[in-house]
Amino acid sequence: MSLLIAVSGWDEAPWIERFRALLPEHRIVTLGEPFDRREVHYVAAWKPPHGALAGLPNLAAIFSLGAGVDHLLNDPRLPDVPIARVVDADLTQRMSEYIMLHCLMHLRQQRLYDHQQREKIWQPDYSQAAARDIRIGIMGMGVMGQDAALKLNQLGFNVAGWSRTPKNFDNIQSFSGSEQLDVFLARTDILICLLPLTDATRGMINRPLLQKLARNGRLSGPILINAARGGVHVEADIISCLQDGTLKAATLDVFEVEPLPSDSPLWTMANVTLTPHNAAMSDPDFVAAQIVQNILRLEAGEDLLHQVDRGVGY
Ligand SMILES: NC(=O)c1ccc[n+]([C@@H]2O[C@H](COP(=O)([O-])OP(=O)(O)OC[C@H]3O[C@@H](n4cnc5c(N)ncnc54)[C@H](OP(=O)(O)O)[C@@H]3O)[C@@H](O)[C@H]2O)c1
Repeated sequence: MSLLIAVSGWDEAPWIERFRALLPEHRIVTLGEPFDRREVHYVAAWKPPHGALAGLPNLAAIFSLGAGVDHLLNDPRLPDVPIARVVDADLTQRMSEYIMLHCLMHLRQQRLYDHQQREKIWQPDYSQAAARDIRIGIMGMGVMGQDAALKLNQLGFNVAGWSRTPKNFDNIQSFSGSEQLDVFLARTDILICLLPLTDATRGMINRPLLQKLARNGRLSGPILINAARGGVHVEADIISCLQDGTLKAATLDVFEVEPLPSDSPLWTMANVTLTPHNAAMSDPDFVAAQIVQNILRLEAGEDLLHQVDRGVGY
């Protein structure tokens, strides 16, 4: 029985090492070497080349090495077997760190003070808003959205979430479905995107949506943080909204094309903070262990954990 590691864009060496240590009874093979396709029962994948997973007649399950599965579902030749994704406390904690960092950075105007330090300007803002004055809206209240919401709430922010189905948390207002989207946006100063990329969410964060954000908040204009997938937003709309004041600022970790092309205006806009799609990186130590646990469950006849619903795309 083999586990095929099918990774592009990441170093596969640490994954090979972890899976070999944790699954000594299985052969661990990679796309870069000859292997018997009939022997492959499992695939652990991150952005595998389209078609690479076709023609594996004994495949039982595919494991995404990240929380998202859009990189798998966009392959027209993806085999019709169960897919499991990563749900991992380490990954979730990393995302919450990123979200808290950037909410606090915008609240405390850190980019302004970075500029003032470079220019040797001593100019405090005596009307500094407090976290309780800021209405945060999280689109996507799944594993990551919920954890970020609870932690932002502990920091004192006024937090609401929007998802497909309603949620029930103390002190966190829940909105759901397209019928409640506008009222959610109208009470939001900082919009955080933690939605999966699916047919329903593709291109959702566009100019018409951004124009519905609150304009009466303490940050003197709405702010966007997207740490989910670049396909959920329309970059040309974000750029024009940042230029005409529809958005005051943005933090972006993900882009329509990655790496972000060098001619994108986003690189040099003063009101944009960019990171290279590393808000929450999968740690092989934690993620390989979780996948192995799931494989052992399957082999013991138990249900797969964290199975993706291919119908809704996440
Ligand atoms: N930048 C990075 O480094 C990084 C790292 C890890 C993950 N991510 C991204 O983060 C995403 C979220 O991860 P997660 O583990 O929190 O996912 P998750 O647990 O599957 O949560 C997804 C959330 O989005 C909501 N949703 C999905 N489709 C929707 C729609 N059409 N309308 C409204 N709400 C919708 C779901 O609603 P329900 O609750 O009603 O189902 C759920 O609340 C991943 O898909 C991945 O793309 C990025």
